[in-house]
Amino acid sequence: KAENLALTPPMGWNSWNTFGTDINEQLVKDIADAFVDLGLKDAGYDYLVLDDGWMARERDENYNLVPDPKKFPNGMKAVVDYVHSKGLKFGIYNCAGATTCAGYPGSRGFEFQDAKLYAEWGVDFLKYDWCDTENLNAKGAYQTMRDAIHATGRPILFSICEWGDNDPWKWGEEMGHMWRVTGDIINCWDCKVGHGTWSSLGVWPIIKLRKDIRKYTGPGHWNDFDMMEVGNGMTAAEDRVHFAMWVMLSSPLIMGNDLRSASKETIEILTNKEVIAVNQDKLGVQAYCHSDEGKIEMWAKPMADGEWAFAIVNMTEEPVEINHNWSWHPVKDDLSGRELAVDRIEYTIRDLYNHKDLVTTKKSLKSTIQGHDVLMIRLTPKK
Ligand code: GLA
Repeated sequence: KAENLALTPPMGWNSWNTFGTDINEQLVKDIADAFVDLGLKDAGYDYLVLDDGWMARERDENYNLVPDPKKFPNGMKAVVDYVHSKGLKFGIYNCAGATTCAGYPGSRGFEFQDAKLYAEWGVDFLKYDWCDTENLNAKGAYQTMRDAIHATGRPILFSICEWGDNDPWKWGEEMGHMWRVTGDIINCWDCKVGHGTWSSLGVWPIIKLRKDIRKYTGPGHWNDFDMMEVGNGMTAAEDRVHFAMWVMLSSPLIMGNDLRSASKETIEILTNKEVIAVNQDKLGVQAYCHSDEGKIEMWAKPMADGEWAFAIVNMTEEPVEINHNWSWHPVKDDLSGRELAVDRIEYTIRDLYNHKDLVTTKKSLKSTIQGHDVLMIRLTPKK
């Protein structure tokens, strides 16, 4: 696979959560413009990814994939060029099976031909799905596409979308740069919605299902908790929690909302550079649950240079007061071996959402956290 890609979690936008297959050239251009105009590019988002639905129903007479001529009347290269002209990167979707999840032509048996076409268009990112894959071995199928991408000579970020059924975290590092860890996300705090053979999961069911596969994530290879639902109907407080948790878990930060009509509050969350910096920390350790007291959960993420981030989440719908004495609650991450050394080191505490310095670790941290909201803080050893 292409080296030196995704050394920190990839950041971008994907069409699926809001638009499904209802995508077209104008939408891509508008979204690319919004990346720049809304400060998203400046905040670090650079991949604009078109999901399922970009193709015509049939390959052409040479078996090449064809962009739907109604949706993309000027072809795909023109769209990719536009995205590149904004200083952004372009991502596309296909599937390891015979058809995609929405029934368009899949890459099974055409892997090298399709990869070559993407490279000719200037594609920088491929999301590769897992529908209609009867009798295929998952690891083998992703390996074939990895090799096909490699053969093009173009560095293309490879995003594995296998939903977690074949433990992609165990082989994903070898094959690609990120891998989905669950079925599809849905825009709610803790619901699960069944669709017969599979279910969509809200924010907390996803987190709880995959909190224990921390050791597989790291620079160049990430557990992907799915495209975000920030701005898609949860409350602003819930969106803050959702965003904070994806940041803490070192998940790729792929937006899934309509950027053309996003509220100021949504954009404020998505472009909060102090919060994003925690996700982009070069150590790349996935956060763990430090304490779960029912009402309050405290998630901890060790960072480079002895720093730490914590997300203190109010799981209830009522405000909760916290009073946290650091020396009474030793913090040690068994995976990375890192410790918060409050007995030897005084740490400053910064409230990342509100851009404010709080007390240091010498004092108890007191705060009121609103229902389904979060206090996200960064601890820095004091010089
Ligand atoms: C699957 C994937 C989604 C999306 C759709 C497209 O459900 O998990 O993220 O790509 O397919 O059909």
